[in-house]
Amino acid sequence: MQCIASLPNWPQLPCDCLVAGVPDDWKNANHVGELDASLSGLLTKLLESGDVSTKANKLTTLLAPVGIPAKQLVLVGTGASSDWNTNIAFHAAGTAAKSVANRRLERVRFVGFSGSAAEQRAAICGALVGSVGQDLFRKEKSLFQPEVYEWVGIEEENIRRAFAIGESVNLARRLVNLPANYLYPESFANEAQIVAQQYKLGIEVWDKAKLEAERCGSLLGVARGSVKDPRLVILHYRGGDSTTPPIALVGKGVTFDSGGYSLKPTDGMLTMKCDMAGAATVLGIMQAAARLQVPCNLVAVIGLVENLVSGDAFKLGDVLTARSGKTIEIHNTDAEGRLVLADCLDVALGFSPAKIVDFATLTGACCVALGNDISGLMTNNTAWQSEIQQAAERFGEYVWPLPMHGFFSEQIAGKVADIKNVGEGRWGGAITAAKFLEEFVNKTPWTHIDIAGPAFLDSPKPWCDAGGSGALVRTFAEMLSES
Ligand code: BES
Ligand code: MN
Ligand code: ZN
Repeated sequence: MQCIASLPNWPQLPCDCLVAGVPDDWKNANHVGELDASLSGLLTKLLESGDVSTKANKLTTLLAPVGIPAKQLVLVGTGASSDWNTNIAFHAAGTAAKSVANRRLERVRFVGFSGSAAEQRAAICGALVGSVGQDLFRKEKSLFQPEVYEWVGIEEENIRRAFAIGESVNLARRLVNLPANYLYPESFANEAQIVAQQYKLGIEVWDKAKLEAERCGSLLGVARGSVKDPRLVILHYRGGDSTTPPIALVGKGVTFDSGGYSLKPTDGMLTMKCDMAGAATVLGIMQAAARLQVPCNLVAVIGLVENLVSGDAFKLGDVLTARSGKTIEIHNTDAEGRLVLADCLDVALGFSPAKIVDFATLTGACCVALGNDISGLMTNNTAWQSEIQQAAERFGEYVWPLPMHGFFSEQIAGKVADIKNVGEGRWGGAITAAKFLEEFVNKTPWTHIDIAGPAFLDSPKPWCDAGGSGALVRTFAEMLSES
């Protein structure tokens, strides 16, 4: 598919579908006036009568509209113009795009999605995400990307950048949607190789022997239960000057989380192919960064394991020695993500990063705290956390900080080893997990992002199919472009 700019005489150009965003104050919107003129006043009539709603994401479809060559006209409410922002732009364009993606179309034209450069890009990303579904293995697909999206009133440069970001969001979504019999540590590393080669990222892949040589005992402990060997992927992007320390992006890549001997019940295990979403987010961001040529240096560290049971799997009461030298007492084999990240964070520290951010589907407790739409932020450096929070706000995604008081650390004190891998009881589980990670970042500014809620949609939304969401790829691609 391609995204291109549309021409000034757009109302009179043929297309399969014309999608028009219509705000509450449509009387002041030029494109509504232009369209209405071609439609001999029909649009005004429908809007005045209230038969067409301008509430955000409300859809009205007109088939074979008389007066314009478009085969159908889809009106999507965009709400109050004063409320228009990246979040609403993403959702409105996504909702319209998804609604018309139910069959194969060649050309879909969008009008009424202008605004600031960031709002324009958010709309284009929304449309790219909305038209891609999770049914990778179904003969009859539910969604089809049209061959061409045309954008009225959006500059070429914003189209180009939004396309790069949208495709990177969809890369993360596809990886999350691949089941664990297709996507496992080795095959994820191969996917990373492909991205690295295509967009000229530096890449290093550590196999099991190298992980042993590097004494990644914490990650290896989790990996023991699977016949699929673990991997650790390091990616480099250099867009800043050679003396500037990189920003480190760290991702949890548990390609399947059965819980190990602390086995999950069927319902909880069913969607655990999504437990590599942090890794997918990091790869998506790295791809976007390379395509956008962002002006900073980045290093990505992705830890890939499968958490299964076997005669050799790690057990409750085992003690693992992390790469940093800290010893960890295992009280729950389902708290495996933090064990993988412990070694990844230590590897990241080796690159002397200016700051670290990690992405992980780390705890169900974070969903209890913030719901399924908001990622939790936990940090040892409020400036770095605020930078991320403000970027998410600017680009229309949802994050919220959780407190990191020192006393939470008391819960992870070990009895026979330095620390244990769970807190005392369930309360504050997202925070005790973050406190565990904090043990492995020394004093480097670090923010942990628990994406357990937003990374995977159990049911579809009007703007996005169920499955992987690609949450936060867009925010970070945009934020790093600005740095
Ligand atoms: N991968 C899960 C967390 C998760 C839950 C992600 C739901 C997405 C949706 C993680 O490895 C896990 O199992 N965490 C445990 C931690 C507990 C044992 C301390 C949890 O949240 O129950
Ligand atoms: Mn787990
Ligand atoms: Zn997990």
